[in-house]
Amino acid sequence: MSKIIAPLELTLAIIKPDVCRNPFNLELLRQMVLANNFYFVDTKVAQLSRTEAEKFYIEHKDKFFFNRLVTFMSSGLLSAHILARENAIKHWRELMGPTHVYRAQYEAPLSLRARFGLTDTRNATHGSDSPDTARREISFFFPNFNMEEFYKYQEPYFRNNEVMFDPKHCVHKIKDAKAQKI
Ligand code: RTP
Ligand code: MG
Repeated sequence: MSKIIAPLELTLAIIKPDVCRNPFNLELLRQMVLANNFYFVDTKVAQLSRTEAEKFYIEHKDKFFFNRLVTFMSSGLLSAHILARENAIKHWRELMGPTHVYRAQYEAPLSLRARFGLTDTRNATHGSDSPDTARREISFFFPNFNMEEFYKYQEPYFRNNEVMFDPKHCVHKIKDAKAQKI
């Protein structure tokens, strides 16, 4: 991979419970994330309570799909990731494809939602929609993650591709052990 000049951007990605239910699809989807040049800065597999799902999706509380969305998002394990790349937010949303699965299949047949999504609710993946949202969503799933420290100590190693993927934990680790400050 060629060296990147600008700082990498971070986004919060979720592989939703519909995909996590099938370990083969979960692995396949993660491989597609790697193939699209994202770094896994951190990974957490967890199940949300209904209250946590309501809090995460508070912006949608008045939408007609809110109830089915939080029911689904708290129905099983999900895989949450801090992803890094240049323009990560935009690139991740492009890789996900349109929200609605039929539209994704028609307009972006190679996208994650076209390939893995089942319905408009069970649409395989989530991605932050702006830098402010990414910051809020990352701290929701990773309260101990310190973004300022990441940019100060770790980001240069990611940017220069001085990292190795650890498949067991689904994270990229910095090759120079001394740099593992956080
Ligand atoms: P996301 O937040 O999950 O990355 O997706 P998005 O920005 O593309 O879509 P958004 O409008 O934020 O909707 C959040 C999630 O709600 C579910 N949804 N269901 N018509 C429906 O039944 C409907 N519309 C949206 C999807 O799970 C969507 O990802
Ligand atoms: Mg959204």
